[in-house]
Amino acid sequence: MAQTPQAKYRKDYLSPSHTITDLDLTFDLHDNATIVTAVSKVKQLREENTLVLDGESLKLVSVTVNGEAWSHFKELEGALELSQLPESFDLVIVTEIDPEANTALEGLYKSGGAFCTQCEAEGFRRITYYLDRPDVLAKYTTKVIADKSTYPFLLSNGNRVAEGELEGGRHWVQWQDPHPKPAYLFALVAGDFDVLRDNYVTKSGRNVELEIFVDKGNLDRAPHAMTSLINSMKWDEERFGLEYDLDIYMIVAVDFFNMGAMENKGLNIFNSKYVLANEKTATDSDYLGIEAVIGHEYFHNWTGNRVTCRDWFQLSLKEGLTVFRDQEFSSDLGSRAVNRINNVRIIRGPQFAEDASPMSHPIRPEKVIEMNNFYTLTVYEKGSEVIRMMHTLLGEEGFQAGMKLYFERHDGTAATCEDFVSAMEDASGVDLKQFRLWYSQSGTPTLSVQSQYDAEAKTYSLTVSQSTEPTHEQQEKQALHIPFDVELYTQAGDVIELRRNDERVHNVLDVTEAEQTFVFDNVSEKPVPSLLREFSAPVKLEYDYSDEELIFLMVHARNEFARWDAGQMLLAKYIRSNVAGVQQGREVELPSSLVDAFRGVLLSDKLEPAFIAEMMSLPSHNEVSGWYKQVDVDAIATVLKAIKVKLASELEDEFAALYHSLKQADYSVDHPAIGKRSLRNTALAFLAYTEQGNQLVEKQYNDANNMTDTVAAMAAANSAQLECREALMADYSNKWKHDGLVMDKWFALQGTNPAEDVLDVIKETMSHEAFSLKNPNRTRSLIGAFLNMNPVRFHAKTGEGYQFAGEILQELNSSNPQVASRLIDPLLKFRKYDEQRQALIKAELEALKSMDNLAKDLFEKVTKALEA
Ligand code: TRP
Ligand code: ZN
Repeated sequence: MAQTPQAKYRKDYLSPSHTITDLDLTFDLHDNATIVTAVSKVKQLREENTLVLDGESLKLVSVTVNGEAWSHFKELEGALELSQLPESFDLVIVTEIDPEANTALEGLYKSGGAFCTQCEAEGFRRITYYLDRPDVLAKYTTKVIADKSTYPFLLSNGNRVAEGELEGGRHWVQWQDPHPKPAYLFALVAGDFDVLRDNYVTKSGRNVELEIFVDKGNLDRAPHAMTSLINSMKWDEERFGLEYDLDIYMIVAVDFFNMGAMENKGLNIFNSKYVLANEKTATDSDYLGIEAVIGHEYFHNWTGNRVTCRDWFQLSLKEGLTVFRDQEFSSDLGSRAVNRINNVRIIRGPQFAEDASPMSHPIRPEKVIEMNNFYTLTVYEKGSEVIRMMHTLLGEEGFQAGMKLYFERHDGTAATCEDFVSAMEDASGVDLKQFRLWYSQSGTPTLSVQSQYDAEAKTYSLTVSQSTEPTHEQQEKQALHIPFDVELYTQAGDVIELRRNDERVHNVLDVTEAEQTFVFDNVSEKPVPSLLREFSAPVKLEYDYSDEELIFLMVHARNEFARWDAGQMLLAKYIRSNVAGVQQGREVELPSSLVDAFRGVLLSDKLEPAFIAEMMSLPSHNEVSGWYKQVDVDAIATVLKAIKVKLASELEDEFAALYHSLKQADYSVDHPAIGKRSLRNTALAFLAYTEQGNQLVEKQYNDANNMTDTVAAMAAANSAQLECREALMADYSNKWKHDGLVMDKWFALQGTNPAEDVLDVIKETMSHEAFSLKNPNRTRSLIGAFLNMNPVRFHAKTGEGYQFAGEILQELNSSNPQVASRLIDPLLKFRKYDEQRQALIKAELEALKSMDNLAKDLFEKVTKALEA
């Protein structure tokens, strides 16, 4: 390490000394030497004639102040300090950058043959020296100059205002964005594309040109993205009353991208994974992912762009809220229950794991070394749960009143999480004083519930206690305001009205103390409680349900999520008891009542196929690991597999009947059709463990007329290690080896291959013609899948999995630290494993720590993990 990276603290926020009201940019694009001219109108905000601009990996060419060459400046580490400045002035800075050498994919870089940018969070400082902080909002004009034949499309934010031809085959286009914005929302693209065009008329009559730019030859994979964009624009008008505010909306799909997509004003840049789809190349979950991400970036136009963040500690202000909005969008367009189930799986699995890891942080972090490390499940997904809790407490009407007030107060400015909560509070009159703790307290609370029925008094009471374990960075925990949604049922399955002292009690109880008892009157029989309905708070629930109660709730709970959750709790009981059994050398056993309960689900003619598929899905190895302080990787894997095999053999007839009856002759991507495929492929995944497995899987692969069924067949062959696996994988690779995006599904299956020699296969796969460690999608598919979704092989006692991870991380540390930093997460949790494994993982972390060019990204995580 050259210099120990310094942390920034939320409490140290200082408003900027100067602001920049206008920025005029000129890019003279060349692969290795792009010249950037930045003309800023700068104004002093307090008496201060020194200005410190951010800059990283820049070659400074010249500095001019009010037309005069300026010599009063110092180039510092990551900054340019200008001094002896007047109160307000025009500043011209010329820098030179090397986009082709930029493998970190931050700032201006080349993706395939195109130039593109990624400026969030702090990438703009790799383009020019600037006040690269979200509370400095300027109006941008951008002139892009490049070779005309190689780069016929020159794009930036806002409206195209001028264009022209130059000598030597070059041309230029100038763009103007009328909305002031922080630098992280700047974007530029230059390249050759096919364009899908459409338009949308907003409810107030503004015509918006819609353009989706894809690599040449991919036009037939763009229509779903366009439909999703139009649906997003319409939905935001209907549900939130929010309209688009420019005359053009552009989306560019690029193959090299560190994240999912980026909401740059008027010019979204997308990972091609979240744009390109047709039935031959994309699965149903790809289609749904595209809809969600297109929605997410579009919704940022209001929650993120019109109102942005004051500083990066406030990231959840835009991300938590925008995830909430995209989840609601997907739920309104598709199945609310299925969406909720999948969102809750993410919280209970990877988010709870993050809360328990050395990287634990509140949704509004207090301390950051590398901002890119805080685009986390906690900030995004738990952040969305916090918004959802406010929605639960305020109701849709109160929440929308809060949104309205939030925009009235903060449109066009950079705001804080506190501003958002205040708007919600002031608009609704609901007291959110204690609720605010969700922003500053990290970790996962546990709610322990005890019930008591008094037959004589006809009262039923729920005693609720809450506690949050200390986390890595925060020892002391306080009681939170937890909305706790409950319902009570009679033995016949009827709803018991909640009453106390002759008044109706709302289903959502306000848990605010460490321990609290809620008493209900007029309860004429001992009820079955449905607790934490809709997962009304991101907490772990402890309640000692009997099997009979859970089986009852699987059938009688009025809401689908609660039925699914009862099934999960029933499975959880037997996963736990069997893990303990396996550790003592016993066989895995399931009671016949459990099998019959799931048989009932399969045979139900009332439930939607998509929902049945969710009911039949076991919790993941990762989620189960989160239940333990010390994880027994092999015992958990043994139990999960044995349960799958047992259910498959006991329910073989039911699965087979469903499998055959759900076959669809034609392919369509509407929700009912997706649901049927989902259940049919869930049945196949079980049947793969029976005698008929190999034949069914092989036939499905050969007959498939869509990618969903193709991948489902390969995945079933992979997990159950069927004989046909190699042949299917070979056929697929042969067909798709020219298309990296389509090959990602294959790479992920190679990564999750449970075979003993998987690591050799993975190393070999790295020389597949479609693979490259330079491409984040490829890396995540193959390497990410191995580290995160192949626990038994990754945690092999030999340590070879860890060693392999270490080597890859060392390489990525130099080429792309952001990708390296996401990949390292499973290693940070080393304290959850046995001593031998701990020592092996620790050795890899130590080796990384001693590297002399260790990037800030890895430095922050490695040091945190080792210091605990
Ligand atoms: N704001 C983006 C989103 O959530 C996130 C993002 C895209 C990002 N690319 C990034 C964050 C690169 C950090 C670095 O929609
Ligand atoms: Zn976002």
